[in-house]
Amino acid sequence: MRSLGLVVALSCSIGCTVEGPEGPIGPAGPPGVSGSRGPVGPAGDAGPQGPPGAPGAYVVLSERAKRGFDVSPVPVTLAGLTPAQVELVGQGSYLVNAVADCGSCHDSTGADGGRRFLAGGQRFALPPAQGVEVYARNLTPDPNTGLTLSEDQFLLIMQTGTDKKNPSSSLLVMPWFEYRWMTTDDLKAVFAYLKAIPPESSDVRGDNKGDVPRVTLPTSFTDGDVARPLLPDSTRDPDGVLRGFTIQPLPQPDLSTLPPASQSAFGRGSYLVNAVGRCNECHTNPPRAAGTHRINTAAYLTGGMVFTADGGVSTPNLKRSMSRNLTGVANGYAAPFTEFVTTFATGHRAGRAAEPIAWPMPTWALRHLTTADLEALYTYLRLAPRRSGAADKLTGGPVLACSTVTDCKGSQPACDTTAGECVGGACDAMTSPCGACQACTANVCVAPAAMSACLASGL
Ligand code: HEC
Ligand code: HEC
Repeated sequence: MRSLGLVVALSCSIGCTVEGPEGPIGPAGPPGVSGSRGPVGPAGDAGPQGPPGAPGAYVVLSERAKRGFDVSPVPVTLAGLTPAQVELVGQGSYLVNAVADCGSCHDSTGADGGRRFLAGGQRFALPPAQGVEVYARNLTPDPNTGLTLSEDQFLLIMQTGTDKKNPSSSLLVMPWFEYRWMTTDDLKAVFAYLKAIPPESSDVRGDNKGDVPRVTLPTSFTDGDVARPLLPDSTRDPDGVLRGFTIQPLPQPDLSTLPPASQSAFGRGSYLVNAVGRCNECHTNPPRAAGTHRINTAAYLTGGMVFTADGGVSTPNLKRSMSRNLTGVANGYAAPFTEFVTTFATGHRAGRAAEPIAWPMPTWALRHLTTADLEALYTYLRLAPRRSGAADKLTGGPVLACSTVTDCKGSQPACDTTAGECVGGACDAMTSPCGACQACTANVCVAPAAMSACLASGL
């Protein structure tokens, strides 16, 4: 059973409100040299007083950077930054808070129960029986307990997983083997954002793990079925479209008949899925071969990983969830785009407000994606080569814990009090699944046997 532990940080769940950061754009200060300024920024954009900056300077932000500032859960310090640096901080916030969701592992809960953004300290035990445990690090700029890496060191860690506390070893839980495919520009943006957030004093305890062999960043992408050389950093690739084509782990589908915009959307979508959004780490089971980190391409994005909620992390009453099959020919995700958008924006299935998309699907972060990025994700999921045969899994929905049937909230009609979970839904073993790992017996869903292989390792 893959348990992400008691992930305290996910307390910032679907419903959490995110405090708006200070607006990055200082409205032009006291009228400067009159006449020379030309176009004044569009009126609506003036946020709360931004940093003073150079008199009369104004910053034009990209849509993603603007969104990044809007969704940062903490205020950012922009004093003294050039417009290009402000843009970088905004882009970094977008990557951290809307796509990569670093906070789900790196946040902690303060003594007052409040969210301590990126303060670190969450414990990850893997596998629990073997005493291996590591702690997410403090990523805030606190000089004593926080991230004190230089930009170069940060890049090295993100690209090779090098563990600063134990430099002959690599990080174990941190998904650097996905993040290493981010463009250097995007990694620099993340770094700039981490430098601009408020420091949190939080001393994270030492890990307990054996030596994990280190790797270097290859010059080619070799995690998938097709090796492709990485283009040099000097390549202009602001949206990661080219990088996305390079790190798509399957043979490239023929996109030549599609309009250029859809082709770019595919590249951008691949970049979001395969480098920043770590979709593969949850939606492929198992995601990679141990040791080599090669992606399990036969089952790429066909779901089936099981998550045990240990008491309903951010989905009330949740006992167990299973990642959805996204790319199967018969059982893959096939909802129309409008439904996809609703699901990401609201965190529940379209037209079914009572059915939240269960933890740990990071809808709390992904709901901040721009429309263009939602289109890119959807385009990628539709056009990526489909998986068939045994890999095309019929994945089950979330299972609620119960002591009486009221706890089931209509998700299923009965409570199995021995198993402590909701059961009794109608099913058909070929087409309509039960809840995650439940068995379909005579067209009714029943709790899994305690020794079920699904509980141990998913589908
Ligand atoms: C799945 C959980 C998870 C996610 C998501 C995650 N991290 Fe980590 N990270 C960890 C853990 C745990 C460690 C330390 C222990 C280890 O992995 O061995 C760590 C370590 C690090 C380190 C090393 C810091 C040091 O002082 O040595 C950096 C830098 C880092 N993470 C940055 C990030 C950033 C930036 C993101 C988002 C883009 C992110 N992490 C997302 C779990 C995560
Ligand atoms: C930490 C694990 C995790 C990550 C990361 C993750 N997912 Fe999921 N995802 C899940 C789980 C679990 C479910 C099933 C939730 C449920 O049944 O309610 C799910 C469900 C979905 C669904 C189906 C929603 C529906 O209507 O049933 C889509 C689409 C999806 N994920 C796409 C993505 C994409 C795209 C990414 C990467 C940007 C991603 N997921 C990243 C765990 C994850």
